[in-house]
Amino acid sequence: MTNETTVPSAEPSMPGVPSLRDILPSFRLDGHVTVVTGGSGGLAHTLCQALLAQGSDLALLDLSVEGLEFAKKELENFVAVNKISNVKISTWPCDIGDAAIVDEVVRAIPLKHEGIVPAKLVHTAGYCQNIPALDYDPRQAESLVRVNLMGSLYICQSMTKLLLSKARRRRSVSAETREAGEALPQLTHVSYVLIGSMSGCIVNTPQPQVAYNMSKAGVIHMMRSLACEWSRYGIRVNAISPGYIATALTKKVISGSPEGAALQQEWTSRVPMGRMAEPREFVGAMLYLLSESASSYTTGENMVVDGGYVCW
Ligand SMILES: NC(=O)c1ccc[n+]([C@@H]2O[C@H](COP(=O)([O-])OP(=O)(O)OC[C@H]3O[C@@H](n4cnc5c(N)ncnc54)[C@H](O)[C@@H]3O)[C@@H](O)[C@H]2O)c1
Repeated sequence: MTNETTVPSAEPSMPGVPSLRDILPSFRLDGHVTVVTGGSGGLAHTLCQALLAQGSDLALLDLSVEGLEFAKKELENFVAVNKISNVKISTWPCDIGDAAIVDEVVRAIPLKHEGIVPAKLVHTAGYCQNIPALDYDPRQAESLVRVNLMGSLYICQSMTKLLLSKARRRRSVSAETREAGEALPQLTHVSYVLIGSMSGCIVNTPQPQVAYNMSKAGVIHMMRSLACEWSRYGIRVNAISPGYIATALTKKVISGSPEGAALQQEWTSRVPMGRMAEPREFVGAMLYLLSESASSYTTGENMVVDGGYVCW
């Protein structure tokens, strides 16, 4: 290769061989507290197991008090069976659609985790309703949007406010300043993963679910907005948008409808891979997005993990 065709950034900048640590990303989360909303849900359960296995403490937020107790017990059993050490799980009953409560809960989390301010978020709280648009009661639609969309904003706002309040302001006043000349706090290792849905990109069929679809489209664009606004602080915000997953949420839709089996058949016939996803198939995407070394240049990204659904 001649000098003219060599990509400058691909050339070694220093003599010598880099160590493996310089090249291979780490997915360990030791010393972190990951906030998992919807912490007693089906998808969250598997994601929580992976987070514990990577050494993270967990702060589980959910509307369901019994669900939280059950999830905590199951996860503690998982920790014991797999001989995982130095991880702690706290539970926080919380309506994610209530900004004041979310703020109160987030500010209390460090008190239960040796003062560690949570810098990692996996936001799964949300629900779906199958109601035709013409029949949608405004209060029902508003409630869903409050939880799915506004809740996504509230949890990100509360975590960021707490992180910024604890961050030391940088001494040097450089290009990274506000117009007034105030130096901005610079955070590292802060990564928020919002669970969107392929329903934020396509319209599912045959079931009508206008409020859910618009809420998830909102989550995806909100994620992009936050990624742009907060990259100045070093905060990365991304989404994972799943296709149909075999969890309590979808099982309820399938079993709650007389055409349940036919509905499932209809769904999978529209997936190029011909099946629904298992919750564990989202672990890799989550760990990638949470890892500072793996995804340090990834923000504002919506990772669609759907077996190819949106391609057809
Ligand atoms: N299951 C799927 O096929 C699928 C597909 C695409 C996206 N998703 C999304 O993945 C996420 C998790 O879904 P899941 O299948 O695990 O569902 P799930 O019902 O098992 O879990 C959702 C959790 O959110 C909690 N929750 C609901 N409202 C809440 C509120 N106001 N405050 C706090 N917690 C609340 C529920 O109690 C539940 O534990 C959801 O955001 C869902 O929209 C699911």
